[in-house]
Amino acid sequence: MLFRKAITADIPQLIKFRKILLGHEDNSSMDETFRNYFDSSLSDKSLVVWVADDDGVVVSSVCFCLCRLAPRFDNPSGLVAYMTTVFTIPNYRRQGMASKLVREAIDDLKSQGIRKILLHSSDMAKPVYESLGFIEGKNYMSINI
Ligand SMILES: CC(C)(COP(=O)(O)OP(=O)(O)OC[C@H]1O[C@@H](n2cnc3c(N)ncnc32)[C@H](O)[C@@H]1OP(=O)(O)O)[C@@H](O)C(=O)NCCC(=O)NCCS
Repeated sequence: MLFRKAITADIPQLIKFRKILLGHEDNSSMDETFRNYFDSSLSDKSLVVWVADDDGVVVSSVCFCLCRLAPRFDNPSGLVAYMTTVFTIPNYRRQGMASKLVREAIDDLKSQGIRKILLHSSDMAKPVYESLGFIEGKNYMSINI
């Protein structure tokens, strides 16, 4: 198993994972939108994606959207990563794929000056994140505008 950063050739599989996570596995109406997003954000490095590659087949992914918030005393750079599209193909689950990807990614993100990772967890993934050291925070509020 190779744990590596995603490249353009991985985009079709990332789109597949994203659609499964969104409950739209068979809906191709947004494929071009997803492709453009992954293509542009991987190339401008606002998105970092780690994948587990089993002999050329991507079986697990973890994505990090990078952004700069206002500086805080505990995070002077303001740089944060939002973790998303965490997915492992069912046959490969419970073999440490997602955990290994997150650990590899954390080392890489730290070297880029990122000191905070945020996420919203599914119920299924919560124990995995907790075992990696993530701490449950307060709920957030939002408005669609
Ligand atoms: C959540 C998800 C990404 C986890 O992926 P994974 O590759 O199976 O994750 P890991 O193998 O690192 O960890 C999963 C569990 O397997 C356990 N495990 C890890 N290595 C293991 C091994 N060698 N043998 C047995 N169990 C093992 C871990 O301890 C963990 O157990 P826990 O859930 O009780 O904490 C995967 O189940 C998935 O894709 N779910 C559907 C999508 C989803 O919910 N995504 C998260 C969105 S926030």
